[in-house]
Amino acid sequence: MSLLTVSTVAELREFVHHAKFKGLSVGFVPTMGNLHSGHMSLIKKAKKHCDVVIASIFVNPLQFNDKSDLTNYPRTLEQDQELLTENGCELLFAPTVDEMYPNGQEIQSIVSVPDVSMGLCGGSRPGHFDGVATVVTKLFNMVQADKAFFGEKDFQQLAVIRKMVADLCIPIEIIGVATERNRDGLALSSRNGYLSAEELDLAPMLFKSLQDIAEAIQQGNDFVSTLEQTQQRLNKQGFKVDYLALCRESDLKPATPDDTKLVILVAAFLGSARLIDNLPFPLNRTSD
Ligand code: PAF
Repeated sequence: MSLLTVSTVAELREFVHHAKFKGLSVGFVPTMGNLHSGHMSLIKKAKKHCDVVIASIFVNPLQFNDKSDLTNYPRTLEQDQELLTENGCELLFAPTVDEMYPNGQEIQSIVSVPDVSMGLCGGSRPGHFDGVATVVTKLFNMVQADKAFFGEKDFQQLAVIRKMVADLCIPIEIIGVATERNRDGLALSSRNGYLSAEELDLAPMLFKSLQDIAEAIQQGNDFVSTLEQTQQRLNKQGFKVDYLALCRESDLKPATPDDTKLVILVAAFLGSARLIDNLPFPLNRTSD
């Protein structure tokens, strides 16, 4: 089947209605476009799990706290359609802002996911996760898929969506997909397109630093000083670290020495690009 692109909820619902009538399972991959092989790994995973795959492309104004970031966000619809076609996606839902927010954004009902939305990216980008939770709830209600696929690169976003789905009893299964990386370790992101050649050489240091922190902590080094030293080093190298945090994987609370499943999360500016990355790792305690 070739890729069909629709822009209205009515057309989307008709497609899904036909698929479900035929007894087919529906997988959903929500995106903001400017697709790369990281997104394609979500599509491929969705194809493995479901009979029919729907992707959405919508640059959601509600989740941008910085207007110029919204204006400059890359929009590459034709190129995205080609990639989706090559990877066997059946339907692309690419709505306008009016289709998504017909009553205007100002009086839109908001979905807010407490606790896990606080701090980290939620701290640096006020309102961001309310915008994400709101648009994802709307998309889930529009598509009514069986399963939805999200990248683990946006670790906090995935935690917010999992909690939202559990708290609100939304009937959908959330599947996290491992981060796609360049050979040098740099996580694939639409924001890498903002990096100069020089910045692209430096960018892999971000993930390398996370690997070094995990190793140091597994060897018994102190949490606080390890993070402080790494942050200083990254800032000296040319990054502007927004946050570097060691958290408990389950709820993103600050890690304690008793936790065994940890995750390091980082957000850092490199030039004009705000890069995020994370590294979950186990902490095995040896009894002394
Ligand atoms: O991760 C993204 O691309 C966006 O935050 C999402 C989930 C599509 C919501 O706009």
